Amino acid sequence: MSRLLSVVWCVSAGLLAGSVFAQNKEVDVFHWWVSGGERASMDVIKHTMQERGLVWQEGVAAGSGTARYTNVLRERVAAGRIPTAAQMIGHDIHAWARLGLLTNMNELARKEEWDEVVPIAIQALSKYNGNWVAAPVNAHSTNWLWVNQSLFDKLGGKEPDTWNDLIVLLDKAKQAGVLPIAIGSEAWEHTLLFESVAVSTGGAEFYRKAFIDLDPAALRPALLKKIFERMSKLRTYIDAGFSKRRWDQATDMVREGKALLQVQGSWVDGEFAHRGLVPNRDYYCFRFPDTQGVFLFNSDQFIMFKLPKERRDAQLTLASTMMQPSFQSALNVATGAAPARVDVSTAAFDYCGRKAISDMRGANMRRTMMGSIAMGNANIPPVKVAIYDVVTRHFTRQIGTDQAVIELRNAIREKPTAGNELKNVLRTSSHTPPLRSAPRK
Ligand code: GAL
Repeated sequence: MSRLLSVVWCVSAGLLAGSVFAQNKEVDVFHWWVSGGERASMDVIKHTMQERGLVWQEGVAAGSGTARYTNVLRERVAAGRIPTAAQMIGHDIHAWARLGLLTNMNELARKEEWDEVVPIAIQALSKYNGNWVAAPVNAHSTNWLWVNQSLFDKLGGKEPDTWNDLIVLLDKAKQAGVLPIAIGSEAWEHTLLFESVAVSTGGAEFYRKAFIDLDPAALRPALLKKIFERMSKLRTYIDAGFSKRRWDQATDMVREGKALLQVQGSWVDGEFAHRGLVPNRDYYCFRFPDTQGVFLFNSDQFIMFKLPKERRDAQLTLASTMMQPSFQSALNVATGAAPARVDVSTAAFDYCGRKAISDMRGANMRRTMMGSIAMGNANIPPVKVAIYDVVTRHFTRQIGTDQAVIELRNAIREKPTAGNELKNVLRTSSHTPPLRSAPRK
């Protein structure tokens, strides 16, 4: 072999070995975490995986499983650039599984006893046809009030225990010239408010029957009317600027003392932590009144794609690491969520994190840990989208309360099927429905 040839051979053999090595260790993770707190959370994942010797690659499309996110992922998958794992929430997981694209992780799950530690309601989403296809990394909950402490204390506020207490507090803020509620423009945010009001007004059993079991008998018009009336009442405490705002901009308003509170998921806790805020010094986390004991969850999960054999080891290391208690502790100190396991120590968490964990454990035992409608953990996408449509049009005054009651009952009674679901999952957003005129991402 000539010298030149052997150099070429050595270099290419080296490159080949290098690329095989890199490919074997490489994980390519697709996600939507871009806000300050979310980026900090993703960095926890990235650094942990790098410490485990994995070579980290990531793809990002902002917007919590929106059309944009789903489309970018779909295009990637269609072009054969299949990620190792992709962030996914709720019933969207099953839609991807139904396409036959996800791998079966039962062996790892059995070895690590995931069945024993992951809350039951989350497992129902992580498994498809009884097989583990996703690794759940947290359990956010949505039925919270995030309250600016200094405004609250100046108002002489009391933690609202009931709906009437909440109204007293919001009125106090209004009278003092403080914006009572900060909210953003999107249908999922309005639905997030709606689900807290629904469970608060109708109770846990009603929520389960009406919104999870989709039992038409639970949809009593008088009760639905009361829920929508309460939504109309809450609308009197928001500002006109809401229609141009994102959820994290509403969070900023609470942080900066421009609004008293926000009703949002525990990712707000992640944003506050990222900005150096401390619970019970800078802000309070109260459960939405009359929902104490209920945990409306949204679990961030990572679906695991079917991959060629040489990428499988790194994928298993990724999944196994994601499920470790120490990792879930570190990650969720950053996200603001509870871990997606009941056995993680509360030691590293702040006050709100510890409260989230103990609420989750209690709710898991009592079956009051129920999927968030807004975040797609309660229903298949077409049902969720139908609920979004009614709730946001009512919230933005496009339909009145009586019409909203009729339309919500129809939407739930019609129960769109899983066949439609597939089409919708791949064509529309998880948070943003194809609304007639509601604000879109
Ligand atoms: C959710 C996600 C949270 C947070 C939130 C913000 O879907 O589970 O982790 O990213 O969206 O929109």
